[in-house]
Amino acid sequence: MNCTAPENNRVSPSIPIDPKILYYGMPVILVTTLNQDGTSNISPLSSSWALGHNLVLGMGFGGKCIENVQRTPQLVINVPDASLWRQVEKLAPLTGKHPVPDYKAQAGFQYEPDKFNAAGLTPVPSIAVAPARIAECPIQIECEVRNVTIPEYASFFAIVETQAQSIHAHPGIMAGGSHVDPSKWNPLIYNFRHYFGLSPALGHTYRAET
Ligand SMILES: Cc1cc2nc3c(=O)[nH]c(=O)nc-3n(C[C@H](O)[C@H](O)[C@H](O)COP(=O)(O)O)c2cc1C
Repeated sequence: MNCTAPENNRVSPSIPIDPKILYYGMPVILVTTLNQDGTSNISPLSSSWALGHNLVLGMGFGGKCIENVQRTPQLVINVPDASLWRQVEKLAPLTGKHPVPDYKAQAGFQYEPDKFNAAGLTPVPSIAVAPARIAECPIQIECEVRNVTIPEYASFFAIVETQAQSIHAHPGIMAGGSHVDPSKWNPLIYNFRHYFGLSPALGHTYRAET
């Protein structure tokens, strides 16, 4: 697939569009939360941002993820690399919610209580929180949930504010010390509902230390 932007992109006039979705290129995260029975659920999300060690997630209502967070305000942000896209896609039509809400059933979702098994992923106990981490994900961020807000203008999702408590990484993506080596880390990008890895590096910011 040729993803090179046309030469004249910068000077082309824009046109108004009405896209069905606006995932314009976000890293995929696999959020683990605690089920009632003490096992962990996995939910693929792409709505997240970080400022310092504070991470904010956009979570749809009606799913198991927000239900679990409201009962036990802890979660793990497991960050898959591009090689894990097939496992992520195995999780895509599954929900831990039983019964499956109508709107999810209409979208083809099926109930799955054991998503680790369904996707061939391995749970490992966390240090600071109750939900398990996902061993295969090169970055795992254990978080306490600090605040859940339901926007007045859109009650179908929640803004979930979290704070990192304990952060883990595979040694293979590290540059030494606490620095992740960006040339070894290839996050999985959700780009208008298609999965991508990163293209070769273009440069770095003046603050880069690696
Ligand atoms: C790549 C990908 C990204 C997604 N991003 C989000 C998201 O940012 N927020 C959200 O609420 N759901 C998102 N979803 C949909 C949830 O994964 C889906 O609602 C699923 O049912 C959640 O599982 P659960 O009901 O067991 O929590 C995404 C799905 C995929 C495959």
